[in-house]
Amino acid sequence: MPTERTSIHGQWSSRLAFVLAATGSAVGLGNIWKFPYITGENGGGAFVVVYLICIAVIGIPVMMTEVLLGRRGRQSPINTMRTLAAEEGRWPYWHLLGWMGVISGFLILSYYSVIAGWALSYVFRSGSGMFVGADAEAIGNIFTNLISDPERLLAWHTLFMVITMVVVARGVKSGLEKAVTLLMPALLVLLVLLVGYAMSQGEFMRGVHFLFDADMSKLSWQVVLIAMGHAFFTLSLGMGSIMVYGSYLPADASIGKTTFAIAFADTLVAILAGLAIFPIVFANGLEPAAGPGLIFQTLPIAFGQMPGGTLFGTLFFVLLVFAAWTSAISLIEPAVAWLVENHSLSRAMAASTCGIITWLVGLGTVFSFNLLSPAEGKTSFFDMLDFLTSNIMLPLGGLLIAIFAGWLMSEKSLQDELAMGHGIGYKLWHFLLRYIAPLAVLAVFLNVIGVLV
Ligand code: TRP
Repeated sequence: MPTERTSIHGQWSSRLAFVLAATGSAVGLGNIWKFPYITGENGGGAFVVVYLICIAVIGIPVMMTEVLLGRRGRQSPINTMRTLAAEEGRWPYWHLLGWMGVISGFLILSYYSVIAGWALSYVFRSGSGMFVGADAEAIGNIFTNLISDPERLLAWHTLFMVITMVVVARGVKSGLEKAVTLLMPALLVLLVLLVGYAMSQGEFMRGVHFLFDADMSKLSWQVVLIAMGHAFFTLSLGMGSIMVYGSYLPADASIGKTTFAIAFADTLVAILAGLAIFPIVFANGLEPAAGPGLIFQTLPIAFGQMPGGTLFGTLFFVLLVFAAWTSAISLIEPAVAWLVENHSLSRAMAASTCGIITWLVGLGTVFSFNLLSPAEGKTSFFDMLDFLTSNIMLPLGGLLIAIFAGWLMSEKSLQDELAMGHGIGYKLWHFLLRYIAPLAVLAVFLNVIGVLV
């Protein structure tokens, strides 16, 4: 039987509510903004193959484990790790893993919010009909004008942080469920519509080849690291988002099935985004490696040309902001839950505190694109932050989670919590968790360091 502990923060109303919230966390800018642009920067097909393998052999087992740990501990990741380490008679400092997660969450949200601000501003750019009939160059200028203006970026970043913290302050459970049920399917429909546009107007087959033809000569350990880091990023793993959502999960829900559903939905959205964007990139002579502006420089071309494009475009950016919002909430929830547990702050106070810190760190990203933009070929603050969090901190978090659950927890505790028997599913999960996930992360880290030396 799972433990009898209950969470002081309450519980999801059902298993479905958890699936929706976790899907809301997983599906976000990572799928629609980041996946296409880093695929473009890293050469396409081979990168996508490594990313998909990482989802299957590292992401899914680690996600199941985060849910398991969260549900067993029933507290913020910091306190969950402290409790579980004590129960298993292990080194008391495992709660530092929770701390690393809290720091990762602050750092990621600080730039996530700036990019979500871009999407927010595009709701209004689209709504005012700015894209109608505009060519690739005009669309490119709209984007450059936005990011070169620090005041505007600051305003949108601030607005996004405020709306995020309002939801966090009210508690993640109220409202989130209904909104996700309605808006996620709508986002999926719009993406399918965009793929349809790409099929009829874009260089669709070139896009497909770019995404799926795996030219292994394009792989380097650096590229593998980025693909692996993105598998963590897109599934919200390695920092406690999924762990804290797991701590609100009812005791009778199956962890294996829910995880598959979430990973499937997340991957589907990313692939659809790729299929919508690359045909437009090629049809308009744009550069797949254009960087973080890629979707903002491509999709508006489609919206400017298709019938009803102003409406669809506006709706698309509204839904993108919404997807970013449900992800942002989960990035800060581990820190907020800890403040409430250990310092008896109200959720409103905890959320405001976290919001102000994140907002301040976000200034570094705001200025990365204008006042402090680096010389050609140099890395910006934003690039460094993204590299540090996605490619180092999250995989390191995942590695430690795999070691803790795979090697330091008793099989009885794992069995009790997973409640999936001793069948092939359990054995496969346990094997991937003990051997494949940690060794893969370690091997990639060591090879990248070897290359850099
Ligand atoms: N997965 C989200 C996305 O793809 C972002 C996100 C939410 C995240 N929570 C996270 C990334 C935790 C890393 C860790 O947009």
